[in-house]
Amino acid sequence: MAKTEKHLMRRFLIDWMSKQWRMLVLGALFALVTAIAAASYAFLVKAGMDWLSVGAGGKSSPIAGFDLAEWAGSRMIWVLPLLVVIATIIRALSLYVQTLLNNTAVQNGLVGVQDALFSRLIEGDYARLTSAASGEFVSQFINDMNVVREAALRIATNLVKSVLTVAGALAAMFILDWALALLILIVYPIAFAPIISIGNTLRKTSKRAQEQTGEITAMLTEGFAGGRVTKAYNLENYQKARAHSGFLERARLYLKVLRGKAAVDPLLEIVGGMALAGVLAFTGWRVMSGAATVGDLGGFIAAIGIASPEVRALGTLNALANEAKAGIERIYHVLDAPDLVADIPEAISLPRPKGEVVFEDVTFAYANGETVLNGLSLRILPGETAALVGPSGAGKSTLFNLLLRLYDPASGQIRIDGQDIAEVTRASLRSGMALVSQDAFLFDDTLRTNIALGRPDATDQQIEEALDAAACDFVKALPEGLDTRAGEGGRNLSGGQRQRIAIARAILADAPILLLDEATSALDAASEARVQAALERLSRGRTTLVIAHRLATVRNADRIFVIDGGRVVEEGTHDKLSSGEGVYADLARLQLS
Ligand SMILES: Nc1ncnc2c1ncn2[C@@H]1O[C@H](COP(=O)(O)OP(=O)(O)OP(=O)(O)O)[C@@H](O)[C@H]1O
Ligand SMILES: [Mg+2]
Repeated sequence: MAKTEKHLMRRFLIDWMSKQWRMLVLGALFALVTAIAAASYAFLVKAGMDWLSVGAGGKSSPIAGFDLAEWAGSRMIWVLPLLVVIATIIRALSLYVQTLLNNTAVQNGLVGVQDALFSRLIEGDYARLTSAASGEFVSQFINDMNVVREAALRIATNLVKSVLTVAGALAAMFILDWALALLILIVYPIAFAPIISIGNTLRKTSKRAQEQTGEITAMLTEGFAGGRVTKAYNLENYQKARAHSGFLERARLYLKVLRGKAAVDPLLEIVGGMALAGVLAFTGWRVMSGAATVGDLGGFIAAIGIASPEVRALGTLNALANEAKAGIERIYHVLDAPDLVADIPEAISLPRPKGEVVFEDVTFAYANGETVLNGLSLRILPGETAALVGPSGAGKSTLFNLLLRLYDPASGQIRIDGQDIAEVTRASLRSGMALVSQDAFLFDDTLRTNIALGRPDATDQQIEEALDAAACDFVKALPEGLDTRAGEGGRNLSGGQRQRIAIARAILADAPILLLDEATSALDAASEARVQAALERLSRGRTTLVIAHRLATVRNADRIFVIDGGRVVEEGTHDKLSSGEGVYADLARLQLS
């Protein structure tokens, strides 16, 4: 487990950050300048304190053979402050440039991550898109990405800078007093063990916290979307209780994360304080015995002062990185999931179909198990209108799902014009079909855009004709006409209006195979008659599959399939079937007499 996590972290860097290497390398160069400027403080403090202590009977020692006080002489009074100012300005400027460079690199890299994640979801399996509550995917883009962004920003700006600064401070310490430096180098890491172990627990909690945030997002989205049912059934309290337990759980998990994080800073504080105490004791003794100067002590404390905040930053980075790992894991979980339905490598492009549709012995079950289609076979000739009837839940819409290759059958074959659809690209397959689905989904865009989705280059004239054929007179009555926004999912329109817009979209798409799933079920009798006539005109020369519960809608079909128990149980024309003794005849007696 730990190994794959490390591996994921590396993959993340290679996949998304390596493209930004120029900026990151440049950032690292500026970080080096920052670190050198910081380390120079230790030497300036040492030189200053030696210089001052000489007056009080102390002694001065050179740094790497160079004695600043001796060189500057009486000019020391202004040379020293000037050097400090110069070092500060250099450090501040390079810190600024470095931060800008690294932040830009991280933001650029994360745009790539989000693009990849979204592409993966939207291009990948329909089954996956529908498997999780949509709120959970939304949460990935908002919450997971925030955690990863926070961590990546902090790591990019701090990691190199802090490591280099600590290295610089350590180098200064070794130059000032190698024995003491060695002592610190040995003691410090031991103090870090608890911080690393906090990081590990943090990762697990953080993963759970992020998953739970996804669940809350899903619950909120659903709760608000179901507003009408909530109100109509007085479900406010039910919704409040659901939300409350979600919020409580979130607070509990976050507190756990925060508790872990809260322990890091005090621990580092203790480590820093102990180091200072140790240095004072050890150097004090060395100064007394004449082995070191007051300046060495001062310089050493200055070096610890420089290194401490950086060490602390590195300590919290570990915690942050562990939180981000949880997010990265979830992101790769989506990116790496294999597609159940995919184009085969040698997939060909399906030419515009003439329209023969064949199902041969098709078996299918959704992921949750139960067999929906069980050896279903049917054949529809080019240009025919075929109706699928059968009880609710029989698998009629599922048949459309398979024809569109939203799912692949478990066994059996589906052919269009004799071509197995498993061997063609999904894009070419789908561009030969126009679907009006049971739910008549519209995007939150203008009605014009919604209608033209299947044919983006449609002229206004063509859109008008499609509107007319689909009995969309209501559009003209809207104050903004075709420029009216449909609202989320089409909520600004009535069910029947949505359905007519969806039909206009299918009409405009001009595809050789039409799939109508309860396409006119929400319409009033007058509109239905008009739309029905338009659909009949449209279906001339196209293969049309119609799913309907109202037999009046399908009686003119060339061929009617009755589907029950996962297979075709009857097949024939309306006249033939209704004069028989089967399921259809029963239905016909019920509905049409
Ligand atoms: N996405 C899905 N995941 C799991 N099971 C599903 C899914 N969609 C449909 N089913 C199940 O598959 C069976 C067939 O569903 P399908 O939607 O094909 O029925 P239908 O014949 O179109 O019914 P209706 O006339 O009510 O629209 C049902 O038992 C349903 O519960
Ligand atoms: Mg259905």
